[in-house]
Amino acid sequence: MSGIDITVVGEDGTSRPVEWEDHQNLLDALLANGFPVLATCGGNASCATCHVFIDPEHIDASGERTDAEADLLSMIDDVATEHSRLACQTEFVTEMAGATVTLKAGM
Ligand code: FES
Repeated sequence: MSGIDITVVGEDGTSRPVEWEDHQNLLDALLANGFPVLATCGGNASCATCHVFIDPEHIDASGERTDAEADLLSMIDDVATEHSRLACQTEFVTEMAGATVTLKAGM
């Protein structure tokens, strides 16, 4: 088992390092590190409570949005940006090492 180091900026604006392990998607990593992500739909791309922003240098590395994810993000386009992902749909890739993930305030 191996992992990568990322930085997570919490809803209160403070950041801390997080180890993202290769068997986890991003939502799993956030929950395992104690971030209060509601994840109301249980990771099925249908609630958007796991909405995060990926820093500009790593958004491409985070992969393509799934169809369901793209649909959901388009429904919250008042807050979603080109740097938005659903953490539950963001799979581990080593290219995300060093990324900064910002939690959406009010999740
Ligand atoms: S947990 Fe519901 S969309 Fe990700």
